[in-house]
Amino acid sequence: MATQRLRVLSGIQPTAGSFHLGNYLGAVRQWVALQETHDAFYAVVDLHAITIPQDPEELRASTRLAAAQLLGTGLDPTRCTLFVQSHVPEHAQLAWVMNCLTGFGEAARMTQFKDKSAKQGTEGTTVGLFTYPVLQAADILIYNAHRVPVGEDQRQHIELTRDVGERFNARYGPTFTLPEPYILKEAAKIYDLQDPAIKMSKSASSPKGIVWLMDEPAKSAKKFRSAVTDTGTEIRFDRETKPGLSNLLTIYSALTGISVAELEEKFTGQLYGPLKTELAEVFTHWVAPFRARTQEYLDDPAELDRILAEGAEKARAHAAATLADAYEKVGFLPAAQA
Ligand code: TYM
Repeated sequence: MATQRLRVLSGIQPTAGSFHLGNYLGAVRQWVALQETHDAFYAVVDLHAITIPQDPEELRASTRLAAAQLLGTGLDPTRCTLFVQSHVPEHAQLAWVMNCLTGFGEAARMTQFKDKSAKQGTEGTTVGLFTYPVLQAADILIYNAHRVPVGEDQRQHIELTRDVGERFNARYGPTFTLPEPYILKEAAKIYDLQDPAIKMSKSASSPKGIVWLMDEPAKSAKKFRSAVTDTGTEIRFDRETKPGLSNLLTIYSALTGISVAELEEKFTGQLYGPLKTELAEVFTHWVAPFRARTQEYLDDPAELDRILAEGAEKARAHAAATLADAYEKVGFLPAAQA
């Protein structure tokens, strides 16, 4: 009997090469878990990547690297649909329709756009960056996803997705499922190891503040050992007064499954040093097999491309059906067979 699984969809940009620990704990780890219980679609969003300039060869390599890392974390192409966004052109086609349903002011209020465009200035900011969240909305709506596993920084984009989907439904009749964000409270935001006031991020973090999964583990271990903490001595989770330490406890807990309360107990009476050293070991222990699995996929690009081709085919079947329905409702004339 066909199972009535809820559907999840999420995406990750291939821009930085290696994923960082925030990507993994905030989002990808949940993707791996959800493939067991949901009808799961996961995309390497290369169309989103070119909203900032990319070298073509590097983009191709980092798209494969992103897919290999997703497989390395445990995504299983027999349990989920893993694909590259540009292989499913229907996303961009639906995005155009959604662009025409999104207000200029509405798009201008997106905080990620405001932050990025403020940094880059008007001349350095593309229209693609402006409509980025609308393409993201199309990514989600085209699969009628119920849930979208992401980190906290994507919440506003999911809200926009609901608003635009709802607007389409109101204007043209029920078509799209309105998705809920799926954000794990504990790991929703992983902070920079050197500046725990900001999130770990490829664009804002200093080299010592960000942990890249594909780096040599010894290099990352050193970053954990030299992470910024407060001047106190007590191992206690407190986001307000001990943001650095709290971030380390969050990471430790997420990587091991040991609760923060248990960790506080375990490290009672100890200084910060042993916790950092142990966390460095925990991370190394976790990351080594991940890197090895990722490397296996990188060493076999033909197999990797085969997995992605299969994923694109599965994804397209769904995306094409939704797009055809949406086009018909909008009033586009069906293309007659020649
Ligand atoms: P991207 O590629 O920036 O990040 C991928 C995922 O990692 C999460 N994340 C974090 N989570 C916790 N702490 C952090 N420090 C941290 N940094 C990043 C992000 O929240 C994200 O879930 N717009 C999306 C890509 C996208 C998408 C989609 C997502 C395109 N289409 C459709 C969901 C559905 C993005 O830029 O993610």
